[in-house]
Amino acid sequence: MTLAERLHAWWRRSVWTWAPESERQAGEAIVQNLWLHWFPHKVAVRSASWSYSLWLGAATASLFLILLVTGVLLMFFYVPSVEHAYWTMKDIRFAVSFGWLLRNQHRWAAHLMVGASFFHMARVFFTGAYRGSRRLNWLIGVALLLATLLLSFTGYLLPWDQLAFWAVTVGTNIAREAPVVGASIRFLLLGGTEIGQATLLRFYVLHVFVLPTAVLVLFAYHMWRVRKDGGISGPL
Ligand code: HEM
Repeated sequence: MTLAERLHAWWRRSVWTWAPESERQAGEAIVQNLWLHWFPHKVAVRSASWSYSLWLGAATASLFLILLVTGVLLMFFYVPSVEHAYWTMKDIRFAVSFGWLLRNQHRWAAHLMVGASFFHMARVFFTGAYRGSRRLNWLIGVALLLATLLLSFTGYLLPWDQLAFWAVTVGTNIAREAPVVGASIRFLLLGGTEIGQATLLRFYVLHVFVLPTAVLVLFAYHMWRVRKDGGISGPL
């Protein structure tokens, strides 16, 4: 046995010890496995290839996972009160072990998720994958993009520094300009007529519970629709 063959045999023994004898056997192995049955039992190589989808949807989902994990860890240190928010944020940066790394991972993943979901939408548009039965999934995608943008906006207030305060002042003043419902939306978001403790608490609850739950539910529906629409569309 050559060294290359030995390495190959070792690799197969470590990651995959079973070679299905028929397509049916391979399909059943997926369907009957508790973890694998979430996935389709067949995927077209062409449509799953990097050069078609650029894996941007998968990248967006991975970034969201990073945000969930780092976000939960940040919750152990951050306190959503106007007296403490700014100082707990400073503690995370300068006192907590690797806190700066945790916070930066959360911030970078957030910026990248907005970019990745936008480029994913552009890919879907330019490959015409929004047509036919996939129209509904395009709309679910729009809701996912909105929820992602709202997550960024609500997260922006949490450090409770000058930048956060004035950015949310500008953002909620823009919301006020919406016809008929504008003033009510601003009042609802702020929890009053000006930014204060009620606003911070509302943005916190939206940021750590309401919006992530919405993204999780919408994402599950998004993936279910991909399955129902016959998998990821393929190159023409
Ligand atoms: C949180 C944001 C989002 C996540 C995590 C996400 C995730 C995914 C994933 C993993 C796929 C499988 C194919 C691929 O990787 O390209 C997919 C497909 C799809 N997504 Fe998204 N997506 C998001 C936002 C959007 C947006 C903003 C749109 C459009 C407005 C959209 C529309 C679609 C459509 C139509 C498909 C089916 C594409 C096809 O069959 O080729 N998604 N999405």
